[in-house]
Amino acid sequence: MPTPPLHMRRAGFDPVPELSALRDGGVRLVDLPQGDRVWLVTRLADVRAVLGDPRRFGNSAHHVVPGAPALSEEELALVRPGNPLAFDPPEHTRLRRLVAGEFTGRRMRALEPWVHEVVRDRLDALERAGSPADVVAGFALPVPSLVICELLGVPYADRDAFQDRYTRFFDISLPPERRLAIALESRAYLAELADRARSAPGDDLLGALVRSDLREEEVVGLVDLLLLAGHETTANMLSLGMAVLLAHPDRRAALLAAPETAVEELLRWLTVVHTGVPRVVTAEVELGGRVLEPGDLVVCSLPAANRDPDLVADPDELDLAREAGSHVAFGHGVHHCLGAPLARMEMRVAFTALLTRFPGLRVVSPELRFRDEQVVYGLEELLVAW
Ligand code: HEM
Repeated sequence: MPTPPLHMRRAGFDPVPELSALRDGGVRLVDLPQGDRVWLVTRLADVRAVLGDPRRFGNSAHHVVPGAPALSEEELALVRPGNPLAFDPPEHTRLRRLVAGEFTGRRMRALEPWVHEVVRDRLDALERAGSPADVVAGFALPVPSLVICELLGVPYADRDAFQDRYTRFFDISLPPERRLAIALESRAYLAELADRARSAPGDDLLGALVRSDLREEEVVGLVDLLLLAGHETTANMLSLGMAVLLAHPDRRAALLAAPETAVEELLRWLTVVHTGVPRVVTAEVELGGRVLEPGDLVVCSLPAANRDPDLVADPDELDLAREAGSHVAFGHGVHHCLGAPLARMEMRVAFTALLTRFPGLRVVSPELRFRDEQVVYGLEELLVAW
């Protein structure tokens, strides 16, 4: 009997209970709302086995538009070039190597003083505008957006347009053709920027990439993914994280006492990326007690895996003072998030500065509106007062 389609997220801070319940049963065939039948993987060990083995579980380029059905060859030719999530090694390695050096821990340490300044300026603006304020629009979105724009060489002045495009692209309730058209708009915008950079390359990533041996459409695709991933994810972690931290004075104190530890636990407990890109089985393989055939699609639930008792004791508890273990909030294996060092640093700096500047900060939103129709989980708005 067909099962009803399974949604990957529902309002609230915990993963969809049916997903966690599946953990004990190994992998299971489910129907996704967009119509695909996939093997759903929820156990931490199985998720690591899939994401850690790109030879047997390749990245399904046809499913690179998250939450949309398979793309046709024509559509694929338009949105695939340059996107590291749409390739397996060695093609993936070639793309990733070009930008990996920009996001190392060492580069982030050099960048940190400037991120402090960006955060301080936003806090000044928030304070000037006065209490109450929306932390999402006034802080969580602008901080990572300003940072990634500067690193890439994308004008921050264009943020309203690209932000709007990315929100609609990530909206799984929109028809897939609409979302694909938005992806193409985004590429057209970046192609123009790349053209300009070619005649006057700046001292930024776009400048470096137009000088590299990448094809034009690859430069555009790579910058598109970095711009999208660089602010949507971190912004949502900042807004959900603030809602969680402000709910208890103990949590605020725990973050200020050990920000790095607390940020890892927030990443694990909140896990804003529901699944990442589906993988496709390339050769018959056993997983979670089932035999998977070539061509089968596999989707990993990162929130379910991060609440696996094999990762930490009492996984549903948020304990900001514990070591969150090697969670999979940034994925695992060759596609492990390229921007993880940047995201970690931004969160540490931003949470610490916001809580220090406004010691009496409190949430005044009458209710929290979760972005559960988006590929990346978050809050629509978070009203705070001080
Ligand atoms: C990949 C999560 C921030 C750039 C990924 C993946 C996850 C993830 C789960 C793996 C997807 C998969 O395997 O299918 C997050 C979270 C972030 C964050 C939770 C913030 C808290 C960033 C930032 C950047 C970035 C700031 C920009 C520099 C990328 C890129 C990939 C990626 C380029 C693809 C890597 C590859 O295919 O080799 N991210 N990300 N992410 N992320 Fe992030």
